[in-house]
Amino acid sequence: PDGVPFHGARQAGVTTRQQGSVLLTAYDLSPAQRGRAGVKTLRAVLSRWTRVLATATEDGDGGSAEPGLERARQARLTVTVGIGPGLPERLGGLSVPAQLRGLPPLPGDRLDPGSSGGDVLVQVCADDAWTVAVVAGILTRLADGVLRTRWRQPGFLPPVTDGETPRNFFGFKDGTATLDAAECERWVWLKEGPGSDGTFCVVRRIHMRIAAFTDLGRERQEEAIGRRRASGAPLGRQREHDEVDLFTKTPEGRYVIPARAHVRAANPRLDGGARMLRRGYSYDNGPDDQGLLFLAFMRDPALFVRVQQRLGTEDDLSPFVVHRGSAVCYVLPGARPGQDLGATLF
Ligand code: HEM
Repeated sequence: PDGVPFHGARQAGVTTRQQGSVLLTAYDLSPAQRGRAGVKTLRAVLSRWTRVLATATEDGDGGSAEPGLERARQARLTVTVGIGPGLPERLGGLSVPAQLRGLPPLPGDRLDPGSSGGDVLVQVCADDAWTVAVVAGILTRLADGVLRTRWRQPGFLPPVTDGETPRNFFGFKDGTATLDAAECERWVWLKEGPGSDGTFCVVRRIHMRIAAFTDLGRERQEEAIGRRRASGAPLGRQREHDEVDLFTKTPEGRYVIPARAHVRAANPRLDGGARMLRRGYSYDNGPDDQGLLFLAFMRDPALFVRVQQRLGTEDDLSPFVVHRGSAVCYVLPGARPGQDLGATLF
């Protein structure tokens, strides 16, 4: 296997075919780091990260002094780095897109500040959890004294064959309505300004009330989602990738996709066609907290805000979920060959 190169105009881990494991780490810049000196040390961390990740993903086995990276290419390691909304203000002088702002309070929020926010967000993905843990550990160590871990959250997917959509803990296929390459160009990647070839990522740790949802029974579960649980097909259709038809009614005059179904409330028609690239994982924080580690990439986080505001009032799924963690970041443009990650920031 060739691995996923770290270098490139855009960071990997966004449009990369989804790996089985993720570990998110949110860091805060140490309070000792401020002003120009802070900028310099942050830059040095990004440079160290670039070097080790380029070696791990692009050179042959054993190319790095860091133990444990031998599997990086085979496991399709990607590391995706983003900047939180508080950092530019604290450091000053960073060149970031204007859309980088914290999210407003949203319906369904019961956020734990200890597992929300962060100055720097790192998404480590690979096909195995071991590689993910090794790499996250290395990155944290290389940032020692500059970035302090604020929270971390692992996630995983059920094993799937090529082209199969993984399921979430409600048992439904999640990720069916995804974006093709042309749609990613249009709706994900920034095309101009300081963030060109970057994007935004919205992270939500969404607790799922699995017992309550189970009690609905399969038919009402399918009405809450608007799709069949087994096949993933939209209600009224046969196959998973058949179109979601919001207009057809039953002989009794009800919509085939119910008025408050999740796929209706989340439909891009209601946002003038705007799309987000969902790349979520399941998480398991013990018997009281299992759910969806919602991860979505888009060119402006305002889209997430609009959709979530609508879901809060128009979605039959919303009584079954609680948003406990939240973060937003500007995903930096990629490190072009010979450059360090974050070159456009400084
Ligand atoms: C679609 C589950 C939260 C946005 C779907 C689908 C499922 C699902 C099963 C249909 C399959 C698919 O197209 O992927 C869930 C669960 C959630 C959750 C269990 C919470 C635990 C959210 C949130 C947002 C969102 C917070 C955004 C604010 C969407 C969008 C679609 C979708 C945009 C595709 C709609 C379309 O184009 O047909 N979700 N979802 N979901 N969801 Fe969610």
